[in-house]
Amino acid sequence: MSEVMTTGVFASDAGPSIPTNLSRDDYCSADIYAKELEKVFYRQWLAVGHISLVPAAGDYYVKQVGPESMIIAKDKEGRIRAYFNVCRHRGYRMLDDHAQGCTDGFVCPYHHWTYDLNGKLRTVPGTRDGQDFPFAEFPLHEAHCTVKHGFIFVWLGKDVPPTLDEALAHWDNDALIRKFEPEKLKLAHREIYTIDANWKAMMENDLECYHCSHGGHVSLAIACNFQGFYADKQTGQHFPLREGMVTFSMDGQRVCKKPLGKAVDGDSAGFLLWPFFCGPVFFVDHAVSLELTPMGVDKCQFICEWYVEETAVESVDYDVEKLIQVFHITNVEDQAFGERNYRGIQSSRFVPGALHPRREDGIIAAYDLYRGMMAAD
Ligand code: FES
Ligand SMILES: [Fe+2]
Repeated sequence: MSEVMTTGVFASDAGPSIPTNLSRDDYCSADIYAKELEKVFYRQWLAVGHISLVPAAGDYYVKQVGPESMIIAKDKEGRIRAYFNVCRHRGYRMLDDHAQGCTDGFVCPYHHWTYDLNGKLRTVPGTRDGQDFPFAEFPLHEAHCTVKHGFIFVWLGKDVPPTLDEALAHWDNDALIRKFEPEKLKLAHREIYTIDANWKAMMENDLECYHCSHGGHVSLAIACNFQGFYADKQTGQHFPLREGMVTFSMDGQRVCKKPLGKAVDGDSAGFLLWPFFCGPVFFVDHAVSLELTPMGVDKCQFICEWYVEETAVESVDYDVEKLIQVFHITNVEDQAFGERNYRGIQSSRFVPGALHPRREDGIIAAYDLYRGMMAAD
């Protein structure tokens, strides 16, 4: 039997081609990683947080989004804007990682050039506008930014993006999500997992629950319906709960007393984007936002944020440790899966392996999209 191995498809003269994962180079080559940033990462809507993080004009926070540090800010007109954290003088990273606060403008700490909330260069020490150069030519670089169901998304590329609704055309659950009143949330906790693996090893892990059984996620197994999860990756309707389970928690019972909107026990919904896996999921008493972001060819981060109803009070309505427990344990287990998978992929003997057509159909769909994006102009 003659066989031809191409990226992501195993073809033989014995029958139709079999979907596979990718070649070793696709996971390990710095050149391919650079191409992925250009063709995929900078051409996808990426989740960066929730509107409750910037409730008032002047509120801002700094978020690492792949190789970019982004300033997410609310301007005086009430619009949420996304600026690259790069001074237009000599390129200094202006704000610290994870900084947040309220301001009427941004000051670069190097030579104190200042910018207003619209990103316009306002003052330059030692010169006036037009004296040596026009300030209007040096605004902060800005990314496209949009909001859906209270969650903020950025598009880092320079091209004109499709709307987020167009990018989410594979979902049809807006009415269900509105039931959770997803605009009325507050951040309860954020955890950042730094993972020694190519981002695609983690994407694959995120898009299948083939590994969830067989003791892979004992804690998740208490409340989660793994079988429903497999189907969910294709239609994206919800993160299904097992019969009698109220929410995603260690005992299937609420971890926050206050429900989200009009949600009832057992409800779940969400909307997710890929190849760079991101987006929120909602349960009766909390929501979780997930962001897979690349940090290099062999390193990525998984950022997990837990949200509760906006008036919920810590220690009264919820306990952070209990709130985050099941996802945190699962994230740590998934980190180990991804890192160990990547170590195997780095072997000289690694070649693409067959994907399970029903248990790994989410990966197959994501790689169809990925290959199309990589081949596009
Ligand atoms: S690099 Fe920012 S003021 Fe000089
Ligand atoms: Fe997992």
